[in-house]
Amino acid sequence: MKGIILAGGAGSRLYPLTLVASKQLQPVYDKPMVYYPLTTLIEGGIREFCLISTPHDLPRFRQLLGDGSRFGVTIDYREQEKPAGIAQAFLIAESFIGKDSVTLILGDNIFYGGDAFGRAFGEFKSGATIFGYHVNDPERYGVVEFDANGQAISIEEKPKQPKSNYAVPGLYIYDNTVLDIVKNQKPSARGELEITDVNVSYLKRGQLRVQRLTRGFAWLDAGTSSSLHEASAYVQTIEKRAGVKIGCPEEASFRAGIMSLAQLEETTDKMPNCEYRAYLNDVVAEAKRLKNQK
Ligand code: TTP
Repeated sequence: MKGIILAGGAGSRLYPLTLVASKQLQPVYDKPMVYYPLTTLIEGGIREFCLISTPHDLPRFRQLLGDGSRFGVTIDYREQEKPAGIAQAFLIAESFIGKDSVTLILGDNIFYGGDAFGRAFGEFKSGATIFGYHVNDPERYGVVEFDANGQAISIEEKPKQPKSNYAVPGLYIYDNTVLDIVKNQKPSARGELEITDVNVSYLKRGQLRVQRLTRGFAWLDAGTSSSLHEASAYVQTIEKRAGVKIGCPEEASFRAGIMSLAQLEETTDKMPNCEYRAYLNDVVAEAKRLKNQK
């Protein structure tokens, strides 16, 4: 399965932070925001990535992530000329997707806890899989309504009167027909190719699975100054308490069996002396200790 990280958009709600650096390059506690969605997909075993951003910001992402080899993955880059909708990403990345299935994650969505996505990637065969997450303010998102058997029966984009509290987070999994679906799609009243319309298409075909994420799972979106601050505070709290990092793609790659211990050590050795390196040194040391015990 291929992975798309969508990291364009205007970021207007974060002005003036986004005058110089795009939203997904802003720090969330101790790393750039895009590290978190990259980690989420690597944890799920995705190895081939396409990152999409604006012509202005794309060079910064290249500078930050390079060709992906530092994380044991490959990263292609594509421009989105204008923010013409999340679903446009599939058209932009068509040659990257090829004949494969694809998962798309939004560059400002932060997930933590459980392995729901890894399992969903592993079990995925055809159609579409999206997720439902209970929130306080569903009207800001795509909202999914379930029947008594837990089957999704409707999805509406930013409804004034939401039919449930279940919002659709920014991680979607589609088979290759997503390309045909988007090619036949018309822009919405706000001029965007809507991801909700893609999901509705799959729902009408009877090919949409909506998995509810459990309570123990955290989904944060960092699109406003408050939510950005809250996301940083959340990450700091968990990292300090548990002594583990959230959003560390090098570690995720090692734990997913993508990078070997030797590769992780090599990557870590190239880092300047900093807390991030010290953390990865500990991961390496612990892994060596466990290996020697065997
Ligand atoms: P939004 O948060 O809806 O939009 P935005 O990032 O432009 O922010 P603002 O509303 O403050 O101007 O977008 C959600 C995510 O999807 C975000 O990571 C940006 C990305 N996105 C694109 O990359 N291209 C697009 O065409 C759209 C609509 C969103």
